[in-house]
This record gives sequence, structure tokens and C-alpha cells, in this order.
Amino acid sequence: MEENIFIKQLDQNDLILIKDLFVDVFTNEPWNDDWSDKEQLEKYLSDVIDNKNSLSLGLIKDSELIGISLGSIIHWCSGTEFYIREFCVKRSNQNQGIGTSFLRKIEEYLLQRQIKSIILSTDIDTPAYHFYIKNNFNELPKSRFFHKNLRK
Ligand SMILES: CC(C)(COP(=O)(O)OP(=O)(O)OC[C@H]1O[C@@H](n2cnc3c(N)ncnc32)[C@H](O)[C@@H]1OP(=O)(O)O)[C@@H](O)C(=O)NCCC(=O)NCCS
Repeated sequence: MEENIFIKQLDQNDLILIKDLFVDVFTNEPWNDDWSDKEQLEKYLSDVIDNKNSLSLGLIKDSELIGISLGSIIHWCSGTEFYIREFCVKRSNQNQGIGTSFLRKIEEYLLQRQIKSIILSTDIDTPAYHFYIKNNFNELPKSRFFHKNLRK
């Protein structure tokens, strides 16, 4: 099985494939995001995948895109990081160890390019939180993620 699974760098030409996978995963449990505004969806994904410092990695199994890790390369003072904005595995492939194996492949890919760390955020009440803990991600004890709604 392992021979048929590999990671591949994706770009704007893969937008439709990325979009289909992203929407199917994130408009369902546990996220239930409303991506019915198609224009906003395309703009958001292009924000992530179509910038100078974008890094979009796909997991291909038997010629099918079954995982995406979308983000950007950030030249932080302590070393270059991969800031992952979106990470997911196709719903029918979840809970089979594929996300874990995808992360390992990403880590190898990054190390070969002198990128020595990954940074990301997720919600504390989701399976993804436990998935990252299991995969040896450390919570930043002093950091909090803030949001402010701007209303007139
Ligand atoms: C979070 C996510 C990326 C994890 O990928 P995954 O392929 O499901 O993860 P894995 O299978 O490697 O590990 C997840 C679970 O499967 C278990 N598992 C690992 N290897 C396994 C195997 N060979 N067979 C069965 N289960 C296995 C793990 O123990 C883990 O279980 P637990 O966390 O319930 O205790 C994926 O579930 C997903 O896309 N979720 C929706 C989108 C999302 O939340 N993305 C992250 C947003 S920040």
C-alpha cells in the first residue's frame, strides 16, 4: 500500500481538486463550515495556495488526492517554519493512520529543505486536537489566538 502513497507539491492548477476535498471535509462534522459562498471559497483557497511563500502539499493514493496540507513558509528569527493553515484527510480515509503517515512525509519533505518546524492552530474540542498531541505537537503555553468582530 505504502508504494502507492506519496506527497506532491500542489499549486493553483490543482484548485478544483483542492476545493472539492476541502469543502467535503470542512462542511461536515465536526467543523460544519458554511462555504456556500463560492466566490469567497475560491478567494480563500487562492489566498492560501497562490502566494509567493505558499506551500501546498497533497497526499496522493492510487492517483487520487486524499489529503491536503496548505500553508506558507515563514522565515522566523529562530528558523524557517511551515505555517499550516489547512490540513485534512478525505473523510472515507480518516482514522486509518493516513493523517499520521501524511505528517511524517511532510516532516521529511520539510527537513530536506532546511525547514525545521511546523506551526498551526486548531480547536481544543475537536479530534484534530488529539491527533496533533499524539503526533508530538506541543501547545504553546503562553500563546492565545485572538479574534475581534468589527461592527459599526
Ligand atoms: C484530523 C485528521 C487530519 C487526522 O487524520 P486521520 O487520517 O484521521 O488520522 P490518523 O488515522 O492518523 O489518526 C487518527 C486516529 O486514528 C487512529 N489510528 C492511527 N492509525 C490507525 C490505523 N492504522 N487504523 C485505525 N486507526 C488508526 C489514531 O490512534 C487516532 O485515534 P484517536 O485520535 O481517535 O485516538 C483527519 O481526521 C481530518 O481530516 N479531520 C477533519 C479535518 C480536520 O479536523 N483537520 C484539522 C483541522 S486543524
